[in-house]
Order: sequence, then C-alpha cells, then structure tokens
Amino acid sequence: MELSRQEFDLLRDYIHSITGLAISDNKAYLIRQRLEPLVSASGCTTFSEFHQKLKQSSIPLIQEKIINAITTNETCFFRDEHPFAAFKDYILPQLGELIRQRKSRSYTRKGAKTRFWSAGSSSGQEPYSLAMLIQEYADANRHLSVSEEDFGILATDIASKMLAKAMDGEYSEAEIRRGLSPERTAKYFRKDGSRWIINSNIRSMVEFRQTNLIRPFTMLGGFDMIFCRNVLIYFNIETKTRIIGQFCEMLSDNGFLVLGSTENVYALSDRFDSVNYGKTLLYRKKVRSEK
Ligand SMILES: C[S@@+](CC[C@H](N)C(=O)[O-])C[C@H]1O[C@@H](n2cnc3c(N)ncnc32)[C@H](O)[C@@H]1O
Repeated sequence: MELSRQEFDLLRDYIHSITGLAISDNKAYLIRQRLEPLVSASGCTTFSEFHQKLKQSSIPLIQEKIINAITTNETCFFRDEHPFAAFKDYILPQLGELIRQRKSRSYTRKGAKTRFWSAGSSSGQEPYSLAMLIQEYADANRHLSVSEEDFGILATDIASKMLAKAMDGEYSEAEIRRGLSPERTAKYFRKDGSRWIINSNIRSMVEFRQTNLIRPFTMLGGFDMIFCRNVLIYFNIETKTRIIGQFCEMLSDNGFLVLGSTENVYALSDRFDSVNYGKTLLYRKKVRSEK
C-alpha cells in the first residue's frame, strides 16, 4: 500500500500525540510496514482513509492496536550485561545497607520496601533479570537479615501486548537463550512443551502496570532506583526533559537512574551526578542542600 508524504506526516503526528515517539523523515517505512495490516483489517484501502477514521470517532481499541504495532519492543534477559553487573555489585549492596539501617531505626519506614522501577519494560526480561539478582543477593545475605521481601519491582510499559506477555512470564527457547545461563534457566524456569515459564517466586516480585510516559506519572510513588533503558532514544528533547524531571522528583535522595548505553541526561537535567562503575555510567540524584 502506498504511503504518500502527506499521509506519513499525518500519521506521524498522530502517533507522536499518543505515544511521544518521534519518527524521523527517513523512517516512513516503519509506519508503512507496521500499520498496513491494521489499515487493511479496519476495512480501509488507503492510509488517508485510515487517518480519517482515527479522527472521526473515539477509538481506544484502534489506538491500542496502533501502539502495539508501532512501538519497538526489542529486549532480552540481562541486556548488555554490564548494567546488571553494576546493579548487582554496586547498587544492591548500597541499598541492602540502607534496608538494614531502616530496619534498625524502629521509628522510620519499618517494613517499607526498597522500590525499583523498570520503565519501558517491554516483555518483562528486564524486570525479571533484576528480580533474579535480588533473589541471589537475598540468598547470599540472609545472615544480615535482608530478604527478597524487602524489595519491590514495578514494571511498566505503554504496550498492552508486551505487558500481557510479561505478566504471563512465558518465553520461547530462543528468548531464554538470549542472556540466560543454563544455571539460571534451570533455577528460575520450568519447561512446558516448547515454552519456558518463570517461577512464581520471581513472578511475584514484579508488579506490572500500563503507563504512558508522556502523561504525568509521579503518582506511581517514590523509587530508590529507576531503570529506563532504550526508551528515551525514541523521544524528542522536550519529552525526554519532562520524563527525566519526573524521574528526579520520584527518586529518593542519592537514588539511582540507569539509562541505555546510548542515552544520557547531560542536556536534560543538572540534578544528577554521574558515577562510572565498570563499563556502566550511572546517574545519582543530587541531594538538595537545605537553605
Ligand atoms: C526497546 S524497548 C526497551 C525494553 C527494555 N527496557 C530494554 O532495554 O531491553 C522500548 C519500550 O518502551 C516502550 N515505550 C515506548 N513509548 C512509550 C511510552 N510513551 N510510555 C511507556 N513506554 C513506552 C515500548 O513499548 C517498548 O516496550
């Protein structure tokens, strides 16, 4: 199906208005390839007709289908490895110590969890990788009275299809092979036919919720670490700045922000310090000086 320049502009603006995705001029093929099946399924013969239909009625279902079709959901377990090494060896021990301190002060936050957020969690491999590391950390530190129940993970995405897959916690052999060692596969999954199903203890450490990062989201609460990897790359600078500003509001003092390897906060916020840990660049929220 042909996609004229005018149709591309109209649909690109529409997609931007509902997702924040900034589709560059050389990516017209993305709209053509990913939306063409929806255009046909909705009984339209051209992209213009489809766009007219979008404008005419309130169409939450089509909107949801467009979001599921147009988002790029590439992910894998322990993606890029080194940010997860930084989480395991640098972030978790510090937050474990914080938990011990909180527990020892009976008057504050007793029982309050250390909260992590995987923002743009796609099909769940990222939050489940974090959950496995937390489980391993808790197993190794029982003597310090730290348990996996001291940690909570929230995982959010805009794409309902990805969230449903993440909540099912079922993966193909190929998905399992991308990033998981045989030991972790055996420890955290059971096989059912050709599918691998995540164990209920890891599954129950993650809460899933549909969240659109271009709408206000600070009501999700406070976090000690936000992983938002390979998500900001799809947005323009205004959208990134708004999102990073809200992340900063939600992070505890000295809380960590972890972005993808090609992303950074430099032009977006001066409220973070950079910390190099191995190959990973982490951002730490500055503590505001009180006047
Ligand atoms: C490339 S995936 C990254 C997945 C994972 N964080 C990783 O690094 O492997 C980007 C995810 O961001 C989600 N996303 C895109 N626009 C979004 C928005 N406006 N709000 C929330 N999530 C969004 C997509 O649905 C997709 O699952």
